[in-house]
Amino acid sequence: MRVAGSLLGVEDLSLAEVSALLTLAGELEAEDPLARSRLLLKRRVALLFYESSTRTRTSFELAAKALGADTTLVSSKSSSIEKGESLKDTGLTLRALGVEAIILRSAFAGSPALLERATGLPVLNAGDGAHQHPSQALLDLRTLLRVLRGGTAETTAQTLAGVTITICGDILHSRVARSNALLLPRLGARVLLSGPLPLLPEVAAAMGPGLTIERDFDAALPQSDVVMMLRIQAERLAGLHLDLHEYRAAFQLNEKRLAAHPRLWVMHPGPMIRGQEIVDAAADGARSLIEEQVRHGVAVRMALVARALGVRASS
Ligand code: CP
Repeated sequence: MRVAGSLLGVEDLSLAEVSALLTLAGELEAEDPLARSRLLLKRRVALLFYESSTRTRTSFELAAKALGADTTLVSSKSSSIEKGESLKDTGLTLRALGVEAIILRSAFAGSPALLERATGLPVLNAGDGAHQHPSQALLDLRTLLRVLRGGTAETTAQTLAGVTITICGDILHSRVARSNALLLPRLGARVLLSGPLPLLPEVAAAMGPGLTIERDFDAALPQSDVVMMLRIQAERLAGLHLDLHEYRAAFQLNEKRLAAHPRLWVMHPGPMIRGQEIVDAAADGARSLIEEQVRHGVAVRMALVARALGVRASS
């Protein structure tokens, strides 16, 4: 049983709950900043970041602070984890200090579930190994709904019917790919997965319904309304060697591919490795949604932190 307000994976949310979260994100974004800052005044939220992060950590922190919460950041380098303290004991310590919700990024798949079980507190998974990154999938969805569906917060099994999204790159190690691949088909989107065999095993299509492997990126692009590019996760390759020249030739979103598909929306969860999976013209072009994705992070994470502490959408 999930603790109320936790979010460990996208499967924790019904489509009605996704819709309620997106509605709450819109309400909080539109709210007067002073009124908003009283919503969670002095409530305590811990950010436990055991893996590097720029976007997720910063936006969760800004989101919690925008609602008036007190935040504390714990990272592996400066905490007692370095001395061998367990995740369970860290969680119990934070709970004893009055923390009411924990946001966790970890290299280990499943660690948010362990922390939730140990503490009984709501846990927001900010990325666990190669498993899931549900808040990223929600902010990606908000971005897609803005450009493709006029910004609706209503999500049904038909909301993205007729839309094809290609996710390209290191699918195997990408928690973003997994969360999106599990969420987007539930809204009716067709999702193509593209990448070389070592980074996209055939079993990836069995992650969930609505997924198709199209290994030929140049065959996937003409079918797509949106492309989500992913970096190669060098920190998780564990001895796997790729010919990067070949990789770029087959899977880079470069000027030639961009010019051939001028109406393609370009997404990337970041961090980008420019010149590797994506070139400047794609990352900075008129059809790039990459900065917009980051912006939606604060609103979506405000909604997640508020939900974790018991706030619901008013409409
Ligand atoms: N997209 C994402 O998770 O980025 P960070 O690693 O910078 O948080």
